[in-house]
Amino acid sequence: MMELDINSCLKDFEELSEEFKTLSASHKDYITKLEALGNLQSKCMKELNHQRYRLGVIKKSMKTVKKKPDEKTVVEELEKKMLHRKVQLQEMEEALPKMNGLYLRIILGNVNVSILNKDDKFKYKDEYEKFKFIINGIGLIISVINLIANSRVLDLIFMFLLVWYYCTLTIRESILKVNGSRVKGWWRVHHFISTVLSGVLLIWPNNSVYYQFRNQFMWFNVYISFVQFLQFRYQRGCLYRLRALGERHNMDITIEGFHSWMWRGLSFLLPFLFLGYLCQLYNAYVLYQLSYHPEATWQVPVLSALFFTVFFGNMVTTMMVIPQKLREKVKLKERFVAIDKYLRGHHRENSDTPIPTPPIPSTSQGQESFSEPTSEPDKKQQ
Ligand code: COA
Repeated sequence: MMELDINSCLKDFEELSEEFKTLSASHKDYITKLEALGNLQSKCMKELNHQRYRLGVIKKSMKTVKKKPDEKTVVEELEKKMLHRKVQLQEMEEALPKMNGLYLRIILGNVNVSILNKDDKFKYKDEYEKFKFIINGIGLIISVINLIANSRVLDLIFMFLLVWYYCTLTIRESILKVNGSRVKGWWRVHHFISTVLSGVLLIWPNNSVYYQFRNQFMWFNVYISFVQFLQFRYQRGCLYRLRALGERHNMDITIEGFHSWMWRGLSFLLPFLFLGYLCQLYNAYVLYQLSYHPEATWQVPVLSALFFTVFFGNMVTTMMVIPQKLREKVKLKERFVAIDKYLRGHHRENSDTPIPTPPIPSTSQGQESFSEPTSEPDKKQQ
């Protein structure tokens, strides 16, 4: 009986070994292709940098060269072609790996965090928004409980959650940045400062000064969680609409439609944001007053300064968003019209060339990056 079992095991293993030969061949093929892919990526990156460098040189020369009046159309045509090339290079770059920033290199090492597929990029950003939404929900629940109950343990759990949350955001945002997100530097700095702020709150001794600020802080968190919810709806709305835009083909309608939706969303959100900033200023003011209290420890003036910094940075950055969005729309339209005219003009000259898909913005609003044209119209001209 025992011998029979061993024999059947041996037979099974031999059968498996035959299958292993197929696996081994597939794996070898995979490694070869992986190496080829790595080489192709390096080659493309090198050539792309070369293109950028030479475009820069040509641009510089065009500035210094004396233009004759009869050369005006030639210059315009060349400018449009260069603009189109810039767009093409940006598009290509999206599918190539990028170097990590300093922060990611320090905490993760030189691991590759580039997401090369548009769908995966979208999913990662969507997941980031969902993550913020869920943690904010948890934060809201804990702050409401904290307002009802007075538990030091729960207070500490809440502060620890904040430290972890903001720290995680800085990492996720750095990964988003590597993958082409146009998140402004301030929002990333804001999350670094918020990590420090939550850390200082965590180590603030629970003396009478702490209890004079505690309830105000919990109410502040309830309000901020509500604002974050509104922000989540707006950001997710932008993300999904821009993705839908990328699949449609009428740029004039889509840009107009998106911008009118965005302005409605922003005008609704902005008053709540500014009220939140006033709350941050009020926190800074109350903490400043408390810093003169005889029992005040060093955490009190530090927190006051941090709240003030966050208030100031948020206020200035958010106020700058409005004129920036106005400029962006004009720039995007001008740019589209220039490229679209160029592409269509070129199509008329080469009626056998299919009309390329008009360039459409990708996941970031106003991002000067466009979806892949279905054909490369100027290939023949080169
Ligand atoms: N945190 C993280 N990412 C942000 C961000 C923020 N506060 N604000 C904008 N971004 C991201 C956008 O999602 C977009 O990403 P993408 O390039 O990957 O698509 C990119 O930055 C560019 O966004 P931008 O066009 O500048 O702004 P927007 O229209 O997306 O949002 C605001 C404008 C004002 C609504 C937004 O910046 C905001 O909500 N700011 C307030 C944040 C705040 O104050 N939080 C504290 C609560 S009181």
